[in-house]
Amino acid sequence: MPTSRTTIRDLARFKQEGRRFAVLTAYDYTTASILDQAGIPVLLVGDSLAQCMLGHDTTLPVSMEEMLHHTRAVVRGTQQALVVADMPFGSYQSSVQEGLPNAVRFLKEAGAHAVKLEGAQPELTQAIVAAGIPVMSHLGLTPQSVHQMGGYRVQARTDEAAQRLLADALDLEKAGAFSLVLEGIPSAVARAVSEALAIPTIGIGAGPGCDAQVLVVNDLLGLGAGTYPKFVKPYADLRSVVTDAARRFATDVEQGAFPDESHSYS
Ligand code: KIV
Repeated sequence: MPTSRTTIRDLARFKQEGRRFAVLTAYDYTTASILDQAGIPVLLVGDSLAQCMLGHDTTLPVSMEEMLHHTRAVVRGTQQALVVADMPFGSYQSSVQEGLPNAVRFLKEAGAHAVKLEGAQPELTQAIVAAGIPVMSHLGLTPQSVHQMGGYRVQARTDEAAQRLLADALDLEKAGAFSLVLEGIPSAVARAVSEALAIPTIGIGAGPGCDAQVLVVNDLLGLGAGTYPKFVKPYADLRSVVTDAARRFATDVEQGAFPDESHSYS
């Protein structure tokens, strides 16, 4: 039976009804199709693909072409989820003239349903929304500004910074953003912003007071090699599962145990 895709109106309704929802990143067709069938209503093709999929140290090097390529794959893997594409560093910061056509490309060339922008970008948000493109905003710890922040540090720790973040959030809501990612800020600040806004907030490292929560799918699945930051809760240990499968396969091949008759043609 055909099911309808999540829309930004559904997310607005979730907020009105006090219904929390989950968001996950996705970067490829197979993972997107699993998450879609698991009922995750929003998938974000995050620029964290720079680190998770491409092996970069930061999100800064990922290009428009790479983001478009991965967004197409995620869209092909979904039937129900709203797919949001992250606009990469350098694709929108200089002007509305730069940002608007790049936002259009995500919908026109990759089939995304919305775009995400980091930082206080009310003017650009308004222009993109006016073009008919839903915008997810992102405040707090914004990884594209890692060097400006002096590292991945929790933001809005002072009253003044918290007030500024709240003012930026209200400006973005007024500009037409349909949701707001709050990353790496104290729980109390995130709760206050969530209560002040009519649009849903989506927390990551921002405590339980947000309307939704997002995790990077590699962290959710336990695919990482090192330790995880405090805000991450891995729900699986796929790194061990994959390592074990690869080692057992290699051993079987080395010992001539694979392929056996049952995996061979007569
Ligand atoms: O790129 C990303 O994964 C993100 C989420 C952490 C919100 O922006």
